Amino acid sequence: MSPSLFFAAIFCGSCFLLFVGSADAIEEWEWKRLTRKRLPKLRSGKAIDAASAKLADQSASAAKPDVSRWKGWRSASVQSVKDESPDCRSFVFVPTDGEPFSAFLGGQYLTVRLKDPSSGKNVSRCYSLSSGPDEPHYRITVKRVPGGMMSNLLHDTIDVGDRIEIQAPKGKFHYSVEESQSPNPEPLNLVAAGIGITPMLSMLFQSLNERTDRDVNLFYQVRNAVDAPFLAPIREIAKMLEASTGVRVHLWFSKPEDDDLRPGDSIGRLSAERIVDRLGHHRGEYLICGPDVFMNVIAEGLIECGASADRVMFESFGGKSKSAGALAVPACDPCSDASDVDESNSDDSVGWNVAFQTSGKSASFEAGMDGLLDVAESLDVDVDSGCRSGDCGACVRRLLSGEVRYAEAPECDVEDGEAVLCVAKPVSEVVVDA
Ligand code: FES
Repeated sequence: MSPSLFFAAIFCGSCFLLFVGSADAIEEWEWKRLTRKRLPKLRSGKAIDAASAKLADQSASAAKPDVSRWKGWRSASVQSVKDESPDCRSFVFVPTDGEPFSAFLGGQYLTVRLKDPSSGKNVSRCYSLSSGPDEPHYRITVKRVPGGMMSNLLHDTIDVGDRIEIQAPKGKFHYSVEESQSPNPEPLNLVAAGIGITPMLSMLFQSLNERTDRDVNLFYQVRNAVDAPFLAPIREIAKMLEASTGVRVHLWFSKPEDDDLRPGDSIGRLSAERIVDRLGHHRGEYLICGPDVFMNVIAEGLIECGASADRVMFESFGGKSKSAGALAVPACDPCSDASDVDESNSDDSVGWNVAFQTSGKSASFEAGMDGLLDVAESLDVDVDSGCRSGDCGACVRRLLSGEVRYAEAPECDVEDGEAVLCVAKPVSEVVVDA
């Protein structure tokens, strides 16, 4: 018996045969996860005994080394590439320096940088991690976007063995360990459409790996089975875990093909009313990811249905970067937009000269610009970018002289003498190292 199956026998007891019987239908990466730790009794803090808990803790700590985040770019190698649907492809990255990757929370994203062979310029974007936090590798799943620079570069030029650069995972849209470990955790309700499933999958894996009795509901809106990334493993997870855990999967097909539907699946479009109706309540934490229209409608609807506004979070794909498939706007409370408004006089920054020393270019900061990054791009100065919201750190550059201000303190690491160009506005003439 392999070590993983032995572990399954310890924690799963009578469910053992069920898992073994399902193995053939599950891809290898799913099977490894499920047999190792994500078993019904392991999720139940009440059912697990002390010895089993110790074993689980040892296993979890071995799988998630306490590695602090690195700063800046780091080389990673592509270990595998896999198509999840006709236009969605997964890329699995492993370290090239022998050091483990940093730990992360389900739902966070990775900033990826490549050199565009046609222009020789770096291109960077942020993509939600679709792997579970306990894995030694990182996986992103990228939807090819017509005209999208990074998604097409990844799909067309990156293969097994290639190297890319990444930054440590970041992001405020993530699984709450504190909530799950609280005495009476509220339900976790994950709502996804299309490629928005990627952070939800990571959070689902993290949830399944914890000893918690927290109810988890995954609502997944898809067009049909062929176009739905990760539908098969999600169905397998649901089939194995729904009967004995608080994990429930709810699938909505807007245009199902013949044979797409299984018992319990729904036809039509997901709505807040349908979510609340299926749950039987409006309690809990709601995390939403998908197209902007989908998120706005669902978020507003949930609040109208009685969900607490500060418990409804969403992650935007597209947004300011206009690149669907690339995460562009960090998680935010849809009811607290006012806090994002720059309360200062927006004219303060307009007209200041912005110089880029390395490239020898300069221009005035203009009305409507979000930050110094806009000036750099208007001059074709090569500066990395990702989230365009002060979160990922891709655009951080040294500020050689002058002063900038931020409407909100950036989330990314920034040291004295540096500026987060995407959200930094000048309040004097500035010189940037770019
Ligand atoms: S582009 Fe992400 S912090 Fe500026």
